Amino acid sequence: MSQALTPSDTCVLVTGGAGFIGSHTVVELLTGGYQVVVVDNLSNASAKVEDRIKTIVGSEAAANLTFYIADVNDRNALNKIFDQHHIDRVIHFAGYKAVGESVSKPIEYYSNNIGNTLTLVDVMRNHDCKSIIFSSSATVYGDPESLPLTEVSAKKPATNPYGWTKWMIEEILSDLHAADPEWNVVLLRYFNPIGAHASGLMGEDPKGIPNNLLPYVAQTAIGKREVVHVFGNDYPTPDGTGVRDYIHVVDLATGHAAALQWMNGRTGVEIFNLGTGRGTSVFEIIHAFSEACGHEVPYVIDPRRPGDVAENYADCSKAHELMGWQAQFDISDMCRDAWNWQSHNPNGYEG
Ligand code: UD1
Repeated sequence: MSQALTPSDTCVLVTGGAGFIGSHTVVELLTGGYQVVVVDNLSNASAKVEDRIKTIVGSEAAANLTFYIADVNDRNALNKIFDQHHIDRVIHFAGYKAVGESVSKPIEYYSNNIGNTLTLVDVMRNHDCKSIIFSSSATVYGDPESLPLTEVSAKKPATNPYGWTKWMIEEILSDLHAADPEWNVVLLRYFNPIGAHASGLMGEDPKGIPNNLLPYVAQTAIGKREVVHVFGNDYPTPDGTGVRDYIHVVDLATGHAAALQWMNGRTGVEIFNLGTGRGTSVFEIIHAFSEACGHEVPYVIDPRRPGDVAENYADCSKAHELMGWQAQFDISDMCRDAWNWQSHNPNGYEG
């Protein structure tokens, strides 16, 4: 049975806690009084994140953070962490996330994302820890039949291995609860996380050429890329460009804190969309970012990117009604904070 605990009595293991969404969530948890254990293999994150988190939360809350550089798929390492700490809940972010790369490296994606989840839940079960929040994605909805997307909208076949891993891990965790009703599973389906911490100390730091729109726009604004490539202006949307539900990463982080609070003392499987409920086009993003950085960000129109949908945005009323959570920040806040991060850290965590 999942116990009701106060934050200071709750130890949360955060896998992938040095990554973009993970690091912002760790900050929210520490400021909320939780004890936090991070496990991250730094395969796509910087060792500098730990210090940045500590600087943001201050020394008192920082004392509640333990950081392990280890792979979630390393059963021995994970067992040691669970032996050392009484882990009450897990937030599972660790995984590969580049859509295009997943198409060329399916074995790596399936074995890393699904393999590490299976190792994790097995070690959890062996330590009688059965509460998990999983980092899922709106990608499971595929090409929507109608908008906005609610949690009961149909899951559609994924178009790439990355999407399938999210899709299948949702099923795996639901099956765990079906087999053992003591499991307490929350699936959070993120829409498009952007922005950065307002301090300018943490943000998105993609390796190589960014796949996602926002980091590409930010790197173009700072002069690292020549021009933004707009993937299609002939979609059936108001200005012809793709429409997405962009959400500030700090709002996403508070969504995890709300989910932790909500799942306290429960068992079951619950799904929540985390978005803003508002759609924004690629052109609107470029214009908002140009406002934020004070100069026009150049763009060209390219053909559509295969696999892209015209439009999606969330209905987030379930998260509001059940968890009392809703997004606070708008697109101009998101672009301001992303620009603050990019302009102070032109090369991400490396300087
Ligand atoms: C993408 C993934 C999705 C994943 C999410 C994680 C694809 C098809 N989907 O979502 O599975 O969960 O990232 O953040 O890759 N765009 C441009 N130029 C660019 C980049 C993007 O015009 O250089 C457009 C896209 O066509 C889209 C919008 O910007 O309309 C957002 O794209 P992106 O940031 O890649 O996110 P998604 O495609 O929604």
